[in-house]
Amino acid sequence: MKPIALIGFMGSGKTTVGQALSNELNHTFLDTDRLIESHTKKSIPQLFETYGEAFFREQETETLKNLSSKHLIVIATGGGIVEREENRLLLQEEFLTIFLETQFESIVKRIGEDSSRPLWQQSLKERQLMFDKRQELYRQSASLSISTDGRSVQEVVQQIM
Ligand code: S3P
Repeated sequence: MKPIALIGFMGSGKTTVGQALSNELNHTFLDTDRLIESHTKKSIPQLFETYGEAFFREQETETLKNLSSKHLIVIATGGGIVEREENRLLLQEEFLTIFLETQFESIVKRIGEDSSRPLWQQSLKERQLMFDKRQELYRQSASLSISTDGRSVQEVVQQIM
């Protein structure tokens, strides 16, 4: 069975759902952001600040490639993983990719003001533009979309199952 990848915008619940889904399936849960942080020994904000977004995206692609051959894993990805075509192809071909679809208004409520997310440090209008631009990329990359609005974590997991 292919590894399972959860994709979606920041705050769509990839980590929470991923942990619950991996428990249900008895798979190992991994988070690409945490793997990058442990590999580079830097936090996400430090990586963006010191080396820039392009460096972070390189790390993301390397991490995704390394995970593509693993079995019995569920991974949570960073919200921008679909920005690169190379990643979108990997997600389409090497993973069972699930898009957690969440409305922008719910995301804004959930995230609030979070300084640990560098790309959230923009105006509301710019956040909305980034959200809108990515929706199609998530759809292209995934073979399954699940709406998370108004659903508990367990309900989302049951939908996926
Ligand atoms: C990013 C989302 C973050 C993290 C980084 C960039 C993005 O992950 O990868 O800050 O481009 O949307 P989460 O989606 O887990 O917040």
